[in-house]
Amino acid sequence: MTRGSAGGGFSRRQLLIGGAAAAGAGAATALGAEAAWRAATGSEGSSATTVGDAVVPFHGEHQAGIETPAQAHALFVALDLHEAVDVAALRRLMRIVSDDAARLTRGEPALADSEPELALVPARLTVTFGFGSAFVARAGATASPTWLRPLPAFTVDRLQPAWSDGDLLIQLGADDPVTVAHAARMLLKDARAFGSVRWSQRGFRRAAGTEASGTTMRNLFGQVDGTVNPEPGSADFADVVWVGDGPRWLDGGTGMVLRRVAMDLDGWDRVDRPGREFAIGRRLDTGAPLTGEAERDDPDFEAVTELGFPVISEVSHLRRARSDDPRERILRRGYNYDDAPAGASVSDAGLIFVSYQADVDRQFVPIQRRLDEVDLLNQWTAPIGSAVFAIPPGCDEGGYIGETLV
Ligand code: HEM
Repeated sequence: MTRGSAGGGFSRRQLLIGGAAAAGAGAATALGAEAAWRAATGSEGSSATTVGDAVVPFHGEHQAGIETPAQAHALFVALDLHEAVDVAALRRLMRIVSDDAARLTRGEPALADSEPELALVPARLTVTFGFGSAFVARAGATASPTWLRPLPAFTVDRLQPAWSDGDLLIQLGADDPVTVAHAARMLLKDARAFGSVRWSQRGFRRAAGTEASGTTMRNLFGQVDGTVNPEPGSADFADVVWVGDGPRWLDGGTGMVLRRVAMDLDGWDRVDRPGREFAIGRRLDTGAPLTGEAERDDPDFEAVTELGFPVISEVSHLRRARSDDPRERILRRGYNYDDAPAGASVSDAGLIFVSYQADVDRQFVPIQRRLDEVDLLNQWTAPIGSAVFAIPPGCDEGGYIGETLV
């Protein structure tokens, strides 16, 4: 959905700045200016749009930012609630941040926005809220999903508390990094009376417009990553992702797992191309399974080499991640990270692995268990952060996220 013409966007910006910074007279002046500008430029009815103008609706049955095609930039922030925050305070918090999110995602300044100009490029901004177990307990919930707790320990884990857990998650996504930064700043300023930032993780994919839409992302190992995923808008997607039989307050919500997985790019450099493809079970150029031609071809796990070995190794990531049980599937929607290197290394990079599933224990945990037992990729990857959140359903205009709980 787009907000209108690029020209219209410009005049609308004038109007909005007028509204936020100098309501009343300012807005009227801007309205006049808009009419004059349209007449002068003949921009009425222009249908040109830009990446910056595109809007994803905030309100709806489900929160945006999950079924939404992934934006180029993301920021995941987890807050720890202050001790004094009770259920009434949680309600206030969620009302305030939901209002901020509704405005900002429309390309409008938040209330008392200190930099209103920065709010005027929505760029498909989505803001998604998630609750950790402590939030749900603080809300006094009588029922909580059993999976809302830290994941079981895995032998591959090298978890750091500084990248793990948290009471409230704010997930931001947009096709412009300034939009993300501004929205995060507004939300965190409004949330700081209620909680403090525990961790913050910035992720990216290719910039909007650099590839045909629908192109599967590549991670920093160069692999096509995200091929096997439920199709947005399908009944299958709804089955995999949305909660239907959990606690009532989570109906239409989902479970989220975030794993910060460090990738050893230096180690990966020492592996030749056939070795890299063997580890994953797919080709690097097209992302096709080693037994196929195109990215979406079904892998043939029965195919063998001349020597009688499986073409797709039984310990490849593809083989190990795939379950024979169709109920053990997840939606993966991760982001690359590439932070400042420390010490002798020239990179501190990896994947902010993010998955959504109706039931973390039933869907995610068995996959992670299998990968933990054996997966060739483990040689170059290590989970260093881990968090689980319940993502409540969306809300209607005038409502707020979490209204079913607090
Ligand atoms: C840095 C860590 C990881 C990297 C680089 C990575 C990379 C990949 C790649 C390249 C594929 C093949 C293409 C595709 O279908 O997307 C894939 C598939 C998959 N991965 Fe990962 N992955 C990582 C971690 C994980 C984790 C932690 C999980 C879950 C516990 C996971 C679950 C899956 C699943 C379910 C598939 C699809 C398997 C199928 O074909 O049915 N991955 N991954």
